[in-house]
Amino acid sequence: MSKTLINTFASKLVAWHAISGRSGLPWQGNRDPYAVWVSEIMLQQTQVATVLERYPRFMKRFPTVKKLAAADIDEVLAEWAGLGYYSRARNLHVCAKQVMTEFGGKFPSDPILLEQLKGIGRSTAGAIAAFAFHERAPILDANVKRILARLFAIEGAIQDKKINDRLWDLAIDLLPTKPTDMPVYTQALMDFGATWCTSRKPVCLGLEKKCPFAKDCQANLSGQVLLLPQKTKKTKSPEFDCNMLLMRSANSILLQKRPSNAIWGGLWSLPEGPWTPRVARAKVVEISPQELLAATLPEEKSAALTKACKAINQAEEIKHVFTHRKLWMQIWQVGAPKELVFLNPDLKWVPLAQLGRHGLPQPIKLLLQGLNLVRGDDLKN
Ligand code: ADE
Repeated sequence: MSKTLINTFASKLVAWHAISGRSGLPWQGNRDPYAVWVSEIMLQQTQVATVLERYPRFMKRFPTVKKLAAADIDEVLAEWAGLGYYSRARNLHVCAKQVMTEFGGKFPSDPILLEQLKGIGRSTAGAIAAFAFHERAPILDANVKRILARLFAIEGAIQDKKINDRLWDLAIDLLPTKPTDMPVYTQALMDFGATWCTSRKPVCLGLEKKCPFAKDCQANLSGQVLLLPQKTKKTKSPEFDCNMLLMRSANSILLQKRPSNAIWGGLWSLPEGPWTPRVARAKVVEISPQELLAATLPEEKSAALTKACKAINQAEEIKHVFTHRKLWMQIWQVGAPKELVFLNPDLKWVPLAQLGRHGLPQPIKLLLQGLNLVRGDDLKN
């Protein structure tokens, strides 16, 4: 292992950041651990451009951990709507309550304690500790793993426990010695991975060979930059079909609150039937009103409902790609009187004008907009 690189990496990276790193982002330079934590969770699976728009809004709505902990989960999910990966919002809420009850409303500075909070992994704990408390705590997200695997030509799958442990050890060895350098160093590492040492177009392979680590980077020196870190073989994600009921009365639609442990947990969606493995087929699916009701509203057996749902229309087939699966939603439209009542307490008629107050899954929002049932503005809360 190169001793010189270990000793010079942090200062070179900080110098790189002064010229080429990202600056002026609203969460930078903030030592409030609450603000740092919210930004790190939001940035985990969401593009910086989207976070730039949504982060200030979230902070305005929930300016302190106390306010977030006291909020209703529905308000939190509604504010998170459109950002995806909703377990992040549910975990934020649980974590805020943990901070209030277990830490008297103050985030701990020790990354080991931070990591015990809901939704905070080791790397996020390191980022919060570094940004808010100047702790010498390492981060190791996918971008940092790529940087280190290249610099030290680490072969083997980065998911492998041994390789992962080695990367963590390196991340610790490379930390700057001065705690006050931790925020800029941590941000620089993130920025360098996101903008220079990228997966497919790293700067070292461009025409201007200007990477500050070009002479130290083992992958660069041995012409292996695009081969490291080793790619994992992607398995094809399974595909499913499900029927969804778009039941409308004059100005309302029927929504169902999703169970908290399921996909889109806690959000309001259309009543849906079971997911079945998608089979290749040549013709459009057919379903009778009775079958549709039995699949999507299994507890509701009233004669009034059966009577109301004499005719159904297939409105749309929409595909939604999750991280590990694809879902094809068959949307069936049914007109019904608003007086219809339901046994299941998770079902409710929601006036179209109030949709913005409900957290809706993004594809359902887009569907309702596409069908001209709502305008984009109506969904803003
Ligand atoms: N991704 C995760 N944390 C980030 C940060 N602080 N800045 C930019 N991108 C990030």
